[in-house]
Amino acid sequence: MDHFAYRNGVLHAEDVPLPVIAAEVGTPVYVYSKATLVRHARVFREAVAVAGRHHIAFAVKSNPNIAVLRVLAREGYGADVVSGGELDRALAAGMAAEDIVFSGVGKTEAELAHGLECGIGQFNIELEAEGAALARIASAMGKTATAVLRVNPDVDAGTHAKISTGKAENKFGVPIGDAPAIFARLAALDGLNMRGVAVHIGSMVADLDPLAAAFERVGELVTELRAAGHTITHVDLGGGIGVPYRPHDRLPTPAQYGEMVARVTKDWGVTLMFEPGRVICGNAGILMTRVIWVKPGVVRPFVVVDAAMNDLARPALYEAYHHFQAVEPGEGTFDANIVGPVCESTDTFAMGRTIDLVEPGDLAVFRTAGAYGATMASTYNSRALVPEVLVDGDRYAVVADRILPATIMAAERVPDWLD
Ligand code: LLP
Repeated sequence: MDHFAYRNGVLHAEDVPLPVIAAEVGTPVYVYSKATLVRHARVFREAVAVAGRHHIAFAVKSNPNIAVLRVLAREGYGADVVSGGELDRALAAGMAAEDIVFSGVGKTEAELAHGLECGIGQFNIELEAEGAALARIASAMGKTATAVLRVNPDVDAGTHAKISTGKAENKFGVPIGDAPAIFARLAALDGLNMRGVAVHIGSMVADLDPLAAAFERVGELVTELRAAGHTITHVDLGGGIGVPYRPHDRLPTPAQYGEMVARVTKDWGVTLMFEPGRVICGNAGILMTRVIWVKPGVVRPFVVVDAAMNDLARPALYEAYHHFQAVEPGEGTFDANIVGPVCESTDTFAMGRTIDLVEPGDLAVFRTAGAYGATMASTYNSRALVPEVLVDGDRYAVVADRILPATIMAAERVPDWLD
């Protein structure tokens, strides 16, 4: 459920008519609904609370805007970060350092040291050498790093190949069969407190069975580690549950996910950690755009909008579907291709889709763009970096400015030896 709905024929974000935002901020622009973020945060928490002690760390990569993070911090969420930059954002948003989890397959030594200086709550170790480096850096600083070992359970999440992470051939985690030996070697190091394990098999997981299979393997590993004398107090179950991108998509609900987790983990006796991203912020955002042209095509017309693959990369990268709606739809629909202005054919949002009839100048939105939207934006084709707006009831604020090409150009130099 979200708070984007038509009132008197005009699409609103909560109580704000979208044309009001377009008039003030321009297009393209991301618009987030605070009420939707809060609702999703609470629904997810209630869902996983049935499984017992838990900690939720929002996957900052899905939407790192500091106003969005502040909303979630107020809901008691911590953060799952994958870079020093994301760590700084989570702290700037008011998240407590001990509520922050540092994931990521290629943390540099500088990032590990930065995490230790900030006093973050947990490092998710991806390989033995990283654990050894963390132990060494922590010892040199006179600290102990709290850590878990990420395992790769070799389970197919059944999601798009480019966002699958739990198959043996993926770069993430240590093979689950090697985990007991690696865990034992890391647990013996000074400077490291190995308190558990982590798993994440992929994003946009539309079926609970692979998740359950992965968690069951992790449960067996926990038993094995305890039998070897290790104290296991935390298991991080990652993120991954999907959201409906199409109006009629039926996906597992957070409640069904929570019930599955409770069933699989009931004897574990640990604090469960969760790293949800998309399920919290996906439906809480839209990308608003304006139609520039409706261009006749040989097969069907092209609706050329002012948003492009640099603003919302998901369709170009993963053939992702984002529902398209006119902000003030009239009567009728037509079959069209929806494309952006970037000079390559992959800048296509949809081919042969039946959409609201639109004309040049009309406003439209791509729905479910709150996750992996603005965060993956670029300035390709020397386009501006897309701005972001947060709505709360009848008020709204620009929470990220449009960064103009001139600002980007100002950071570039022509060395004198080129003269
Ligand atoms: N934890 C870890 C270790 C992750 O790698 C991810 C996502 C998450 C949590 C959050 O997953 P979520 O709950 O959002 O599914 N750019 C792609 C998605 C990449 C996901 C990467 N990792 C997309 O636009 O679909």
